Amino acid sequence: MDLARRLAERGRYTVAPNPLVGAVVARDGSVVSEGWHSRAGGDHAEIVALNEAGGAARGATLYVTLEPCNHYGRTPPCVETILRSGLSRVVVGQLDPNPKMRGRSVEILREAGVEVEVASDPIFERQNEQYLHHMRTGRPFVHLKLATTLDGRIAASSGDSRWVTGEAARLRAHELRAEAGAVLVGANTVRTDDPMLTPRDLSVSPPRITRVVLDPNLMTSPESNLARSAHEAPVVVFAAEAGGRERELEERGVEVVLAPRSEEGLDLSCVLEELGGRGIKGLLVEGGGETATRFVRKGLADKMTLFYAPKLLGSEGVPMIGALRVTKMAESLQFSVSEVEKVGQDVALTLYPDAAREEERVHRAC
Ligand SMILES: NC(=O)c1ccc[n+]([C@@H]2O[C@H](COP(=O)([O-])OP(=O)(O)OC[C@H]3O[C@@H](n4cnc5c(N)ncnc54)[C@H](OP(=O)(O)O)[C@@H]3O)[C@@H](O)[C@H]2O)c1
Repeated sequence: MDLARRLAERGRYTVAPNPLVGAVVARDGSVVSEGWHSRAGGDHAEIVALNEAGGAARGATLYVTLEPCNHYGRTPPCVETILRSGLSRVVVGQLDPNPKMRGRSVEILREAGVEVEVASDPIFERQNEQYLHHMRTGRPFVHLKLATTLDGRIAASSGDSRWVTGEAARLRAHELRAEAGAVLVGANTVRTDDPMLTPRDLSVSPPRITRVVLDPNLMTSPESNLARSAHEAPVVVFAAEAGGRERELEERGVEVVLAPRSEEGLDLSCVLEELGGRGIKGLLVEGGGETATRFVRKGLADKMTLFYAPKLLGSEGVPMIGALRVTKMAESLQFSVSEVEKVGQDVALTLYPDAAREEERVHRAC
């Protein structure tokens, strides 16, 4: 199973919006064949492994990190191929919570006389956190990423933020974009940085990602890098009302979506529901500080990666997080540290919110 999990990792920066899946066919303690899912629309991991195994799959065991599919998508159901292959045992890392699927493949295989084991190891849950979250909630998994100084500043007082962190951390940010499959920023970041928000300089060819802007007053310029590249990779701008720029932006290929306002600006639950409905399973929120604050305050960040640069900008810099209306330590938002890693000259912290807030997030409706 560990080999299957490592094979699945090979698809991390190419497979969005599909899940990461790895598969191994083994017999008498030896590996017969291996497979992984590399790209949406491509062969599923178990099919790659079974094709390579051919007749040697008969009577062997298949280790696969996610429950095999039993429906026609862009490829035929894997369960049928498994049954034809003559495998005698299948070990599954994680059941697929897709409402159309749950438990069904395991049952079909068992009914056909195949021995099935479900490992249900949390490691497989974590590996596919994006896909599983989307299947359970209908919303993308929100990964908040910021590059900050030691004193929590994401830009200097002039708005200049190029660059807070070094090259290695910036490359890592490109990997996170590819992994998520969609990136979101606030209107000020578009105004100040004029970013492209595409994943670049990777050793693999990333999927085409969706770029999202929260821009209630529809101030995004049709001359911005985002608008000018909208025909190459989709750009969706959420606004509170259509403004004068709508037609020009749409002519560039930008999609303007009207979202309801809540007491705190655009209703983020509705934004997430809309994106989830489009099949967006992961969303990398890249700031700036105001946007990050709104996601954190609403308990809508499912994961955070903070790249800390060994620099100070002082209190006049742009804060990473604004007011959270916390007056006592007991009210502070709490996270657990999942990873600490030195990335070039910077340090990356990966964090998850505590369980209580998770519950709150899952139950909030649009
Ligand atoms: N170091 C980093 O990781 C990093 C990352 C990104 C940006 N930056 C820097 O951060 C600075 C920009 O950050 P910022 O905090 O000023 O702004 P920001 O978060 O980029 O944009 C804030 C604006 O986005 C809109 N917005 C976002 N969420 C909204 C919601 N739920 N409802 C309504 N409107 C929403 C509002 O637009 P309106 O103003 O039109 O109402 C708001 O003023 C720039 O200097 C940039 O260079 C740094």
